[in-house]
Amino acid sequence: MAKITYRHPRGTVTVVDVPAPNTVMRGAKLNDIDGIEAQCGGSAQCGTCHVYVDEDCGVVLPEMHEVEDDVLYGTASPRRANSRLSCQLPVSDALDGLVVDLPQAQS
Ligand code: FES
Repeated sequence: MAKITYRHPRGTVTVVDVPAPNTVMRGAKLNDIDGIEAQCGGSAQCGTCHVYVDEDCGVVLPEMHEVEDDVLYGTASPRRANSRLSCQLPVSDALDGLVVDLPQAQS
């Protein structure tokens, strides 16, 4: 279980408890949070689950795999140093307190 904060570009902030096994993407979908499309269903192909991780939240994320790295070059909103695919972030206790910003556009 992890408490995850999703911040929308319009200013909406949603904080939810997401149980494992899920991903940060799935946590958004389960809670009807706008801003995550996840067109490929979580297989790291579409880039529409793009998030910007708040680097001040203190959560250490799993390392990025090559496929995720490649897909992040094709996202609708610009890639930044803190960009991740939320479908590649499995929820565990280690993600408790994670804060992500949703991009302006996903497709
Ligand atoms: Fe498609 Fe994450 S849901 S890349």
